[in-house]
Amino acid sequence: MIDVINNKYFNLYNESFSYLLYIMDNGQLGHLYYGDSLGKIDENTADYIAYSKNKASGTVKYSPDLASFTLADHMQEYPTYGTSDYREGAISLSRGDEVLYPDFKFKSYKITHGQKRDLAMPQAYGDDCDNLIITLVDEEKELTLDLTYTIFPELTAVVRKAEITNNGKDSIEIQNLQSNVLSLPDSNYDFLQLSGAWLKERHIKKRPLEQGITKIESLRGASSHQENPFAALVARDATNDTGRIYASNLIYSGNFITQAEVDEWGTCRLMSGINPATFTWRLNSGEHFTSPEGAVFYTNSGYNGLMRQTHAFARDHVIDSKWKTKKRPIVINNWEATYFDFNEEKLVSLAKRAADLGAECFVLDDGWFGHRDTDRTSLGNWIVDKKKFPNGLAHFSDYVHQLGMQFGLWFEPEMVSPDTELYKKHPDWVVRHPYKRASIGRGQYVLDFANPAVVDNIYHQMLAILSSVKIDYIKWDMNRNITEAYSSYLKKLARLQGEFFHRYILGVYDLYSRLLKKFPDLLIEGCAGGGGRFDLGILYYSPQIWPSDDSDAVERLDIMTGTLLAYPLSTFSNHVSAVPNDQVKRMTSLNFRQDVTCFGPLGYELDLNKLSQDELNKIKANISWYKKNREILVQGDFYQILPVGTKNNTYAWAVSRNNQQIVGFYRKLARPNETLDHYLPLKDLNEKTNYLINGKQKLSGKVLQTFGLREPYQFNGSNLDTAQLIGDFQSYIYQINSQNI
Ligand code: DGJ
Repeated sequence: MIDVINNKYFNLYNESFSYLLYIMDNGQLGHLYYGDSLGKIDENTADYIAYSKNKASGTVKYSPDLASFTLADHMQEYPTYGTSDYREGAISLSRGDEVLYPDFKFKSYKITHGQKRDLAMPQAYGDDCDNLIITLVDEEKELTLDLTYTIFPELTAVVRKAEITNNGKDSIEIQNLQSNVLSLPDSNYDFLQLSGAWLKERHIKKRPLEQGITKIESLRGASSHQENPFAALVARDATNDTGRIYASNLIYSGNFITQAEVDEWGTCRLMSGINPATFTWRLNSGEHFTSPEGAVFYTNSGYNGLMRQTHAFARDHVIDSKWKTKKRPIVINNWEATYFDFNEEKLVSLAKRAADLGAECFVLDDGWFGHRDTDRTSLGNWIVDKKKFPNGLAHFSDYVHQLGMQFGLWFEPEMVSPDTELYKKHPDWVVRHPYKRASIGRGQYVLDFANPAVVDNIYHQMLAILSSVKIDYIKWDMNRNITEAYSSYLKKLARLQGEFFHRYILGVYDLYSRLLKKFPDLLIEGCAGGGGRFDLGILYYSPQIWPSDDSDAVERLDIMTGTLLAYPLSTFSNHVSAVPNDQVKRMTSLNFRQDVTCFGPLGYELDLNKLSQDELNKIKANISWYKKNREILVQGDFYQILPVGTKNNTYAWAVSRNNQQIVGFYRKLARPNETLDHYLPLKDLNEKTNYLINGKQKLSGKVLQTFGLREPYQFNGSNLDTAQLIGDFQSYIYQINSQNI
């Protein structure tokens, strides 16, 4: 609901939260409150909340007319640096060589209902959402700023975006236009980020907020392996189920910044948006520019409360809703099975074996085009390699379909290898500075997706393949980041090079949008050397993303735990791979690998022809079990049972749907004589219902929630006969099915 009180206060609320903003004494937009629901409030209450007589000593005042008013001590909705507030602002503009200090005053507002899904740009959608659009103007500088707030009846999320319009006759330059701004009256939080590197993405890292700026960012042209746009402010006493957490995420895939600034009074300003370090945009007279959307979240129920918000938001308002019911196929991917060393015959035998075991989609990974026998060649010329497919690719795809499986194909649309026609014919289509030296990554260059002609060329090349071969699934890879960012196209148009990074991402979205408009049923799996572009922008088009090139199940425990704070189970695909694992050379049992990968969309990525009969039987049994439980494992509500930490040895994950649950218990390293009886208390069960645990033990919901599930017995030095878990890398799956009493 959105209430406007006396044209001064805006109360955005539902049963679980309120977000209150107002017009401050100077006419600008101030922030008052974000937290548990205050319900409907009247003017008297709003005045009480807004009343403040603190004397911000030592500060510069906003204007001689408002002698005791300073922006320095006010929580603001869209702050500007340098107009009595010295914190970093959400907006920076200039006109010619003059820095502008905008002074946006409230002019009007509009409330609308609903938001359509539109492929042109990733943005939250929903039939039932309410949108508040507040128009602010700076008359003197001839600028308009529209701030949009969107809320949903069932969520605490507030979605935001900012749009600036240049009403003057001279152009302006935008150096900064943030998406999210959240002001908090305190800073007693840890800053939680999802960080890592290639092969170890989105590990949870936490550090206490202190006076000054705590920030994460990407300058790589993609949201990156190293940092994720998601960040949370976690109350120091928060647990899995209690405590306040505020979080922020962007529906954006390019260079970003997310930062929290704590001022001298201990208040905190969280902001997130396009990274200003690599951004400038020229706005000519009459033009407008809109920031990507961002969302902030609030919970008073710890990490599980946070995940309920972030998961529902992504699932119901970002990812295409059709993927809530359409099943995600169990994939067999040939990458780790063959790498580049394959021909049709080899793939046929892999496909046959996979179909026998119950796999549902054969994904042909890198190496099917040009003369791509190594990763140094052929990107950008998307023509089937006749040596590997003498009968054409359609022949192989038809064969896969005859086996009853779907067919998926790998592309890396944004890249070009120097040995291709495309590169030779269009050297100016490559992202590189006119300098002689250009950095190279994996032997390849990045195509200038800021140039619509480049996107168009790649679209038509992909279209040719997609129209001649039956393809159900695309894996969209992106294996290097951008360096020496420079676009000859922008130069020709006399546009600023500072526009490049954002225009590049718009080009990526454009290609996604054109493909999906033409092939609406295509399942596109996002990928960027694994998890180098795992964000809500990509999820808008790709309902799932390959989360890491590290397929080691032990490493995945941490990657999945971190990823799950911001993104639901349905968003990351997990593949069972061979041992020793290719990335870390670790040995783990097939049971362990299958027990980890079954949470979320499942796949296999290993040479099935090299497995023993016993292993094949286990895979077949797992696939058939997974098919029966896929709905709960992919679309169920996830919660953590053991404390979410940064360096865990044990993990207990639960997923629930329709009064059924599946619990996965994992221990990385065995510890001698460590545990006797430990219990895992469950949630979200019906107290009065009886549940059958793994088809054997019957327990009531009340017992399972108050006493808990008994942890499986670990070998403790002498109980070999009764131990359920032995050695390192232990796992155990509990299936909890309701039984009416
Ligand atoms: C990186 C991806 O993450 C891998 O899964 C695989 O597709 C390779 N690229 C292929 O080059």
